[in-house]
Amino acid sequence: MTRKKVLVTGGAGFIGGNFVQYMVDKYPQYDIYNLDLLTYAGDLTKHRDIETKENYHFVKADIADHEAIIPLFEKEKFDFVVHFAAESHVDRSITDPGVFVRTNVLGTQVLLDAAKQVGITKFVHVSTDEVYGELDFDPTTFFTEETPLQPNSPYSASKASSDLLVRAYHETYGLPINITRCSNNYGPYHFPEKLIPLTISRVLNDQKVPVYGDGKNIRDWLHVIDHCAAIDLVLHEGVNGEVYNVGGHNERTNLEVVKTIISILGKSEDLIEFVKDRLGHDKRYAIDPTKLEQLGWKPTYTFETGIAQTIEWYLDNKEWWEQIISGEYQNYFEKQYSM
Ligand code: NAD
Ligand code: TYD
Repeated sequence: MTRKKVLVTGGAGFIGGNFVQYMVDKYPQYDIYNLDLLTYAGDLTKHRDIETKENYHFVKADIADHEAIIPLFEKEKFDFVVHFAAESHVDRSITDPGVFVRTNVLGTQVLLDAAKQVGITKFVHVSTDEVYGELDFDPTTFFTEETPLQPNSPYSASKASSDLLVRAYHETYGLPINITRCSNNYGPYHFPEKLIPLTISRVLNDQKVPVYGDGKNIRDWLHVIDHCAAIDLVLHEGVNGEVYNVGGHNERTNLEVVKTIISILGKSEDLIEFVKDRLGHDKRYAIDPTKLEQLGWKPTYTFETGIAQTIEWYLDNKEWWEQIISGEYQNYFEKQYSM
């Protein structure tokens, strides 16, 4: 059997990094290429355990750089592309939308061109439930794959734009694609600008935790390993051209999330500090995962087991996140929160 080549973009980031490790371990018969620009959100120290494996390869490149991406595809002739690379933080998109358009929209279009040129077997585009906009607090309403796209933040607008380009390359050129739209991920190697790792790291350091507005906004939480398994399934079994939502009835208010972490770590709720709300803050996201379940996916974590495992991981891997929050991150934090 010929070896398959899988290009994973953004494999030095949070979800892409977990996915690269998952694939390198699970498929010794595949060559896994991690392509990443190593922005503030990317780091390779997470791959120490796999970097000497024969089926792991790293390429430093910018997905929006046509001159670098096209020759790479021509040389390597990838079979599969799993596309994670993106600017991913809503707050950063509110202060600096331009880089979101360049990376998320232009970068995706360059990859699609390259994939079309070499005739790949499947392009999986990893998107977000945020492209659907927001739900109200009625707990019986969910996003489905039929929900119209109504993105509210510059981040989600750039992701929706990339989704539409992926769809267009399928419709116009017949490129084999799937789009996945997942809810909020959490787990090991989550960059500490996002709510859960920010809360864990600050509570462990007895620092105040900034909660936007009244803390009643709701997110649907998905453990990153369950997400990796979903993408693996879609890559191999997804019906060409289809969209799959990934999420799993793990809705919590932000305040519930923060209080749960504080309680597990045995600290005081006095650490909670309500701060100015995020501009255009989406009220609620929640996913109906029926379509993906029918394909054969089932999450293995509940929020309770997943958050316990995640906190344990942050306790055991302090040096990874301490090295992040001691650098340029400090400037980001001060500017973002002025606390
Ligand atoms: P992340 O910010 O942790 O990682 C992004 C990675 O992309 C980093 O390694 C970064 O260096 C790389 N990158 C950025 N610009 C690049 C460029 N121009 N060229 C090459 N590499 C570049 O992001 P994440 O949280 O792992 O998210 C991965 C994907 O999943 C994104 O597409 C995001 O929109 C989507 N997603 C994330 C979540 C979540 O909860 N984190 C939820 C839904 C969807
Ligand atoms: P985040 O982790 O940034 O993910 P997203 O905006 O993509 O959902 O935020 C999750 C929720 O937590 C969101 O409702 C905003 C809120 N939040 C805070 O209350 N305080 C914070 O410091 C951050 C980063 C987020």
